[in-house]
Amino acid sequence: MSQQQMWGGRFAALPGEIMQEINESIRIDQRLYREDIAGSLAHVAMLAKQGIIQPDEAEQISAGLRQVEQELAEGRLEFRSELEDIHMHVEARLGELIGPVAGKLHTGRSRNDQVATDFRLWVRRHCDLLQEEIAGLQNALEQQKTENTATIMPGFTHLQVAMPVTLARHLDVYCRMLERDAGRIADCRKRLNECPLGAGALAGSSYPLDRDCSARELGFDRPMPNTMDAVSDRDFALEYLSALSILATHLSRLGEELVLWSSYQFRFVKIADEFTTGSSMMPQKRNPDAAELLRGKAGHVIAQMIQLLIVLKGLPLTYSKDMQDDKKPVFEATDTVLLCLRAAAGMIRGMKANKEAMFEAVQQGYANATYLADWLVLQADIPFRQAHHIVGQLVARAEELGLKLEDLPLAEMQVVENRIDRSVYEALRYDVQKASGIPG
Ligand code: ARG
Repeated sequence: MSQQQMWGGRFAALPGEIMQEINESIRIDQRLYREDIAGSLAHVAMLAKQGIIQPDEAEQISAGLRQVEQELAEGRLEFRSELEDIHMHVEARLGELIGPVAGKLHTGRSRNDQVATDFRLWVRRHCDLLQEEIAGLQNALEQQKTENTATIMPGFTHLQVAMPVTLARHLDVYCRMLERDAGRIADCRKRLNECPLGAGALAGSSYPLDRDCSARELGFDRPMPNTMDAVSDRDFALEYLSALSILATHLSRLGEELVLWSSYQFRFVKIADEFTTGSSMMPQKRNPDAAELLRGKAGHVIAQMIQLLIVLKGLPLTYSKDMQDDKKPVFEATDTVLLCLRAAAGMIRGMKANKEAMFEAVQQGYANATYLADWLVLQADIPFRQAHHIVGQLVARAEELGLKLEDLPLAEMQVVENRIDRSVYEALRYDVQKASGIPG
C-alpha cells in the first residue's frame, strides 16, 4: 500500500522527494508502535461489536495487527519515508499480510484521533515509569538520611554559612520536592486519561461508534466529550513537559550541590568512582561529570517544553501538521529525565558523607551565632535587635582572636555584654536535635 492508496485518490502526481522528507515522521513516531496497535485493536473490537464490520473480519484484522506488532518489536519492519508515519506503516503492512480487508480498520477513524490517542497512551505509560524512577531516587535519599540523622553541617543562604542543620534535614528537602513532582505527574496522568477515539478528523463520523467501549478497552476514564477538542488538544503534553521541567530543575539543583560538595574546597562528600571521571591531562582530577550533567540536561528539558509551546501558540483549531512536531520534545524530555533520575539515584546511593569536614565548616562559619542571639533574648531579656548587634561584636572579636564562638573566654564576652554568664556555652553547643529541626 502507498500514499496513492491511503489518500491519493484526488491527486494526479505523488509528492516530490523534498515534500516526502519534510512530511515524514516515522523516524520519530515509530516509538508509538505499541500504542498504535493497542488503539487499533480497541477500535476494531468496537467496530465489530457495533456490527460495523463482521466478526470474522475483526478477527483477521486483529490477528494481522498482532503480527505487525511482533515484526515491529523485533525490528523486522522496514521503514519507508513515503509511508510518512507509524499509522500508515502499520496499516500498509497489515494490507500486505491480510489483503483488502485491512482497509476496513480505518472505518470511522482519522489519523488525527488516532495519533492523539497513541500519544496520550504513550505519555500515560511514561508517567508510570517516571513514578518508579522517582521512587528509586527517593529511596536512595532515604537511605542517606537514615545514615546521617546526626551529621551536622552548615545550612546556607547566599551560599554563606547560615545555621547548623543535619545532612538528613538537607536531603529531606529533595524528598519533598520529588514528592511534589510525583504529585504533578499523577495529576497530569489523571487529566490526560480521556480517549480521543471516535473524534475522526475533527467532527466524528456517521457510523454508530461506541466511544465508551473503545475508551474503556484502552483504560481511559471516558471519551473526550468535544471531538474538536479531542484532536487539537495537546495540553496534556504541555502539562507533562512542565512537570518534567520542574523535576529536571530540582535534579539540577541537586547536581549543583553535589558539584560544590565534592569540590576540594568543601570536601563534604565523595561521589563514587562509578559517577566520576578523570582528566586526560591532570592525573589528580576526579570530576563530578554526572552531577554537572544533571545541571546541564535540565536546560534541554526546559527547552523541550518551550519548543512545544512555540509549536502550539499560533495554531487555529483543530489539527494542523505543525502538531506532528509535538512528539520529539516529549520523547527527548522523557529520555533525559529518566536517565537523570537514574544517575541521581546512583550518585546519592554511592555518596560518602565526610562528617568531619561538614562539622568543621559549621564551626569555622560561626553557624551558632543565631543561637547566641536567641540566648540573650530569652535569658537576659535583651531586645532581639540589640542582641543581634551584641553577637555581631562578639563574632568580630572571636574572628580577631582566631577563635570559634564557643571558645571565646567568658571574660571576653562580658567586655561586650556583662549580662552573659557561663550558661551561654550550653546554648552555643551544636545540638543534633536543634540542627535536625525535629521539635524535641
Ligand atoms: N503523523 C501525523 C502526526 O503525528 C499523524 C496525523 C496526520 N494527520 C493528517 N491530517 N495528516 O501529527
